[in-house]
Amino acid sequence: MAGVRRSLSVELGGMTIATPVMVAAGCAGTGREWTGLVDVHKVGAVVSRTVTLVARKGTPTPRVSESPSGIVWETGLQNPGIGSFLEEELPRLVRAGAPVVVSIGGSTMEEFVRLTSTLQGRPDVSAIEIHLSGPDDELGREVLGDRADRAAEVCGAVARMSRVPVFAKLPSVGAGVVEVATAVARAGVTGLTLCSPPRALAVDAASLAPDLGSVTGWLSGPALRPLTLRAVFDVARALPDLPVIAVGGVRTGEDAVEMLLAGAWAVQVGTAALVDPIAPVEIAQGVARYLKGKGLASPNDIRGRLRVPDGFDPSGEGAHR
Ligand SMILES: Cc1cc2nc3c(=O)[nH]c(=O)nc-3n(C[C@H](O)[C@H](O)[C@H](O)COP(=O)(O)O)c2cc1C
Repeated sequence: MAGVRRSLSVELGGMTIATPVMVAAGCAGTGREWTGLVDVHKVGAVVSRTVTLVARKGTPTPRVSESPSGIVWETGLQNPGIGSFLEEELPRLVRAGAPVVVSIGGSTMEEFVRLTSTLQGRPDVSAIEIHLSGPDDELGREVLGDRADRAAEVCGAVARMSRVPVFAKLPSVGAGVVEVATAVARAGVTGLTLCSPPRALAVDAASLAPDLGSVTGWLSGPALRPLTLRAVFDVARALPDLPVIAVGGVRTGEDAVEMLLAGAWAVQVGTAALVDPIAPVEIAQGVARYLKGKGLASPNDIRGRLRVPDGFDPSGEGAHR
């Protein structure tokens, strides 16, 4: 349709990205894998693997097991620690040509505060993503970010200190996701990444053994798409002005469009980018084709446009209990 000036660019609370398709945390490798790839500058942004204050060796291999429509995996957040990350890995990621979002993980408030302060004033850090699915050593809980008050306390501290946009990647919290989302939004985060993967287990019946060296892990891949859609849909309806980035199960342009229709402002791609590093570029091209087909100018034109009957109430009579 002639006359429509089309742009894939979206603005996420102060961070403008060239396309609404980012690479999810831990799925862009260490930057080496990206060097030399054509068109990486056409990726919206790259989220680093989660970085902790001190280096982590990670969990024993095998770390990945195939499952129907996805993979079960665990890395144990293997990373070189924030010092080496900033010296070696971050420059490589930045050189690849896309804005870099640094994912930070900690198990105490102090760790999150120290990580944020180490990132202060670095022009090569476009935003921070807070990993909230690890344990809480201070309160002795298995998942730091699955309770609204604690998630808000940690996210609020990071958001108050940070000079770049801050996104909270919420744990896979099911029905509680809106409550946690609302609390961290009030605490001042720029936006949300929804959600971290659910916990999973893969078993080899022949050897009576778990597939992963860590025994338990997380589920990623296409199987997650309906779960992500629901979380995005619920949160976007409750918090329509808050940038939401959908992650979990996006493999094609159509998948990305579904997420935008449900209310996402952008998407992240994990497993599909591991399989083919150029997938995020192709997914963005798929979004562009969809917009062109509909005669629309921007991903914002389809955000939250899922046609839902008037008066729809997710907790109403239609809800199955
Ligand atoms: C091998 C691997 C490593 C990952 N590492 C991290 C990580 O360091 N931090 C994090 O927040 N998520 C990590 N993730 C989760 C992804 O960022 C993403 O949330 C998840 O894979 C779901 O998206 P997908 O279905 O597109 O793969 C990792 C996923 C995989 C498969």
